[in-house]
Amino acid sequence: MVLLAIFYEFINFNSMLIFLNDSLVPEDQAKVSILDRGFLYGDGVFETLRAYSGAIFHCNDHVDRLFHSAEAISLRIPFTRDYLMEALYKTLEANHLKDAYLRLSVTRGVSEPGLDIEGCLSPTVTIIAKGFSSYPEGLHQSGIHAAVVNTRRIPASALNPAVKSLNFLNNIMARVEAKRLNAAEAVMLNMEGYVAEGTVSNIFMVKGGLVKTPPLSAGILNGVTRSIVIDLLKENGIPIIEQAFYPAELYTADECFVTSTLYEVMPMTTINGNAVGSGKPGKLTQTILNLFRRLTA
Ligand SMILES: Cc1ncc(COP(=O)(O)O)c(C=O)c1O
Repeated sequence: MVLLAIFYEFINFNSMLIFLNDSLVPEDQAKVSILDRGFLYGDGVFETLRAYSGAIFHCNDHVDRLFHSAEAISLRIPFTRDYLMEALYKTLEANHLKDAYLRLSVTRGVSEPGLDIEGCLSPTVTIIAKGFSSYPEGLHQSGIHAAVVNTRRIPASALNPAVKSLNFLNNIMARVEAKRLNAAEAVMLNMEGYVAEGTVSNIFMVKGGLVKTPPLSAGILNGVTRSIVIDLLKENGIPIIEQAFYPAELYTADECFVTSTLYEVMPMTTINGNAVGSGKPGKLTQTILNLFRRLTA
């Protein structure tokens, strides 16, 4: 039985098709130049998307954000939005996937050695699709541990966190710190000491029935899930404000949760080893997760 599972895993792995520039190719033939600036400098942008039952959730919003990110770093994507959306669906379907994670990356391609971008005429576009239906359900029921880390979110004046760039070292270092503190996610502060965001998520807190989340001006990614959750809260008459707050407020919050395409709405039940509220996922967090899941069902 185990051998059979390994065999199928092997078959599945070997037959994975990757979208590369304009065609679908088997994974072992999906090659990118060693001189590609995505590899050399993290020079590019990306999106993580999710498909539920064969439909890519808020595909438009992700592709729009990809174009905004690209524009912000003066990278011209050689395809239209429609072309990329079609490519996402083609990759999903070619891999026979319904519930999946999709990763769309655009690098500035190959150039002469050096930083100048003038000669970069052929960006590299890749799409990877892998089966993914959810984090283990137990995680949404127990919540995750988080830690406020020393690594600050890079300021917008250096590299705008609103740009979802391939240059992810700021987040990786924060995650390394969080892991050393036995936490799954980091709470990153901005240079002014206000709560900014997680390494791969946006942060929300609840106190006395009021939901608070850092404003975009705190220097964060404009999360697709964050926007959906804000809209859901408003539509359901749950008070929500986008307002800067210090980490001290998280310690006294009734509930905290993070949002992302993969996390959806994930309770954050401890911060730096201290229980948030009762130490269990809060009622409001659960309500929001249920509302969110109605959209993905
Ligand atoms: C730094 C950061 N913030 C927030 C998010 C959440 O964004 P979204 O809801 O669009 O997945 C992500 C997603 O990967 C992220 O990397």
